[in-house]
Amino acid sequence: MRARDGRDVAVDRPVRAEVLLDWGESPIGPSENAARRVTQAAPHLHRYPRGLLEEVTEQMAAHLRVAPDEVLLTAGVDEAVDVALACADRAWGVQPGFDGYVDRARATGKPITLIPLGSEWQPAPGSAAGLGHGDMVLVAQPNNPTGNLFDERWIKEVRQSAQYLFLDETYQEFSTRGSLIPEIATDPGLIVFRSFSKAMGLAGIRFGCLVADARTLARMRPLQRFLPIDSVSLNAVAGTLEDPGFIGRLTAYVRQERTALSAILRESGVFGDVRETEANFVLAQARRGTAAAVLAWLEADGIRVKECASFGLPGWFRISVGSHTDHWRLRECLAGMSGVFHPELEEAHQ
Ligand SMILES: Cc1ncc(COP(=O)(O)O)c(C=O)c1O
Repeated sequence: MRARDGRDVAVDRPVRAEVLLDWGESPIGPSENAARRVTQAAPHLHRYPRGLLEEVTEQMAAHLRVAPDEVLLTAGVDEAVDVALACADRAWGVQPGFDGYVDRARATGKPITLIPLGSEWQPAPGSAAGLGHGDMVLVAQPNNPTGNLFDERWIKEVRQSAQYLFLDETYQEFSTRGSLIPEIATDPGLIVFRSFSKAMGLAGIRFGCLVADARTLARMRPLQRFLPIDSVSLNAVAGTLEDPGFIGRLTAYVRQERTALSAILRESGVFGDVRETEANFVLAQARRGTAAAVLAWLEADGIRVKECASFGLPGWFRISVGSHTDHWRLRECLAGMSGVFHPELEEAHQ
């Protein structure tokens, strides 16, 4: 590997345990109660998950303070988008935004248009004006990869003009703004998605749910496979919901350590811009021309972060909040880098 000043910066470092800061996984593991319930259910794996979908639907409805017929359990965000998009003619997203919506729109044959985000990663005022019947706008709030919240006036405009707003609240528990779930009661066009991968610490099972008006969900239910969620996944979610302190512990940890992670990234001097977000990650922009080399340096030390080009944000890294050990490893690695990718070097090449 070569730095911008032409110096060879390749180093022979022993490869240590990987530090996975690329996909927003729980830094404190899953709920112990979830693991216990999965283990207890293991001797019954020869059985279909009789009654479990209903049990978890009821638990989730109670957790989200809605009625059971306002909850539809789905196999991750992909199935949620597929069944929701079946109700619409056209999909809309934002750029930079979550690439999963684009993938699913293509897979299900729906045209998708991306609304560009401008300064402070907000959509231009009036960009929702042309939307109408048959349109579904899919956005994550907080957004991925930018981690910010959208202007409430824009969200309102979308809800007034498009037939549906698919609001992905995968990162909601980490943010300062309340959920829009209470508004499903008065807005049949509002479809909220909740993932169990982040604040419930269950990324390994790719499981989530749609929350919407019962009549809106009734159009989607027949599109699902028979018993779409397996008993291991259902028991893991049930075990997490029966562990009342867990979600609060995980989200409090992430919020606190997000600030610590932002400080580590800023203090390293390696990045030109660092943004603490409303989600479970921090965004850092490599200094001009250094992104590939920074990524290679981190990878050589077994540290994985997400480069955001696939989300329409090239040159930025999405770095998940990790454990204390993960942050220690990251700090140590960045310290080795700061002499190589320092601001003067960038200025000299502008
Ligand atoms: C906006 C958004 N929605 C959904 C997901 C994934 O959800 P799940 O794991 O439940 O499919 C992610 C994962 O990174 C995401 O960023």
